[in-house]
Amino acid sequence: MKITNDKMILRVGVVFVALFAIVNTKSVNNYENAKHEVEEYILNKKKEINLQYKLHYHVTPPVGWMNDPNGFSHVNGEYHLFYQFYPYDSVWGPMHWGHVASPDLVHWKQLPTALIPEDEQCFSGSAFSYDDKMVLMYTGRRVSEEDPYFNETQYLAFSDDGINFYKYDGNPVLSMTPNNAADFRDPKVWQHGDYYYVILGSKTDDERGRVLLYRSKDVINWEFLSVLGESKGDLGYMWECPDFFELDGKFVLLMSPQGVEPEGDRYKNIYQTGYIIGDFDYETFEFKPEVEFQELDFGHDYYAASTTENDGRRYVIAWFNTWEIVHPEAEDGWAGAMTIVREMKLVNNRILMTPVADMVSLREEPGTQKELQPNENMQFGKTVEIIVDADLNQKIELQLDGVEGGGQVWLRWDPEVGKVVVDRGSDDIRQVEWEPLGSHSWRIFLDASSLELFCGEGEVVFSSRVYPLGGWKLRNLSPQTVNITAYNLQTSAPL
Ligand code: FRU
Repeated sequence: MKITNDKMILRVGVVFVALFAIVNTKSVNNYENAKHEVEEYILNKKKEINLQYKLHYHVTPPVGWMNDPNGFSHVNGEYHLFYQFYPYDSVWGPMHWGHVASPDLVHWKQLPTALIPEDEQCFSGSAFSYDDKMVLMYTGRRVSEEDPYFNETQYLAFSDDGINFYKYDGNPVLSMTPNNAADFRDPKVWQHGDYYYVILGSKTDDERGRVLLYRSKDVINWEFLSVLGESKGDLGYMWECPDFFELDGKFVLLMSPQGVEPEGDRYKNIYQTGYIIGDFDYETFEFKPEVEFQELDFGHDYYAASTTENDGRRYVIAWFNTWEIVHPEAEDGWAGAMTIVREMKLVNNRILMTPVADMVSLREEPGTQKELQPNENMQFGKTVEIIVDADLNQKIELQLDGVEGGGQVWLRWDPEVGKVVVDRGSDDIRQVEWEPLGSHSWRIFLDASSLELFCGEGEVVFSSRVYPLGGWKLRNLSPQTVNITAYNLQTSAPL
């Protein structure tokens, strides 16, 4: 029998489609198996975790390692938070995306691991809805023998239920930087008018951090628009985890630059997170900076902050750690945490951060009220909110300690210097000027290995990890009596 060319082409086509379907089903099955294996591993490994430092109302990894918040979003009436996750050790490794969700940004439930690395590691990115689906856009980072350096391009994954995600067959969807920079990561997507916009962290040929802007109508085909921002040489060699949003009538470019030199009290952490305020035009795609870079948080452990918006409110969360430091909890089988969620406001050219309103729902009533005399102590459990009212015309010094040792940290105010100080001892000090806009109170959030200090209306905020044994002890070392209101806080994050 003679087979015509057309028939031959048809048969080859049919065989190819059938083969593709088999291979594809196989890879889908492999991926499903891999997902089951991860969940089973997590479930078993969790039994071995030492919970002494595990945070109770901050998101932490169930086991293993956590870094940046990813895909912080409000989709179908629920807040989602994903995170850079390596389940198999409490150090950084091939990146997965962990996943938790919340109705109120305070109570979090654990969901199955959302992304598992295959040929690509699943680096940071964002989440949004498109066409009734939830979409993740993330950086696929590949390293191969032919290309010993690395290659970063942007991938998509879709979900119908906000829990199970499947990777898009046509990945990557965005691989082009204007200067072919290898560093091209951490997509942050938002919708405006008919378009989806994305910004990405990258660098110039002469190693200056920059942020690139693209747009798309179908989230598959992306068009380069502009360099949204760029270091002039004084703001580091790489800008990671960019975010861009309107806040109280201005535009804010938030990012985490690497390579900024320390300058007096500023930039004492290894890497920074901060923002530039300016104006933006959706016709020219030009961002005009108006206020210079400022740090967002003044504590020891704060990086890769990321925001989301709902009902006109802008919320921010960050990795409650940073790179290249010791993570004491790693010995316990886990490492890394998220800060509590904060609401942002722009006042007098700076961002104020206050704990998200529903944090008060964690308070165990009744609280305790006490006029704490100089040198007097108070003791608390592992999780407590302490509100401090004192006379700012006099010095304040509060010492925090673990009831059974460890966790020593001093909080100070000196009216002559006008700075708030968070001192972890051995010269490990962070300090910054504070001019209260209204309230003179301090709100201190303590968890099993963390301290967050909010001054006044959130003009100055410090996030620092500290490691007490047992509960917390507070001693008033001030020359004045300070007024303390304290509430034990309930557990609201998966342990
Ligand atoms: C920021 C970062 C990102 C990257 C991710 C990798 O901390 O370096 O730029 O996507 O972590 O885990």
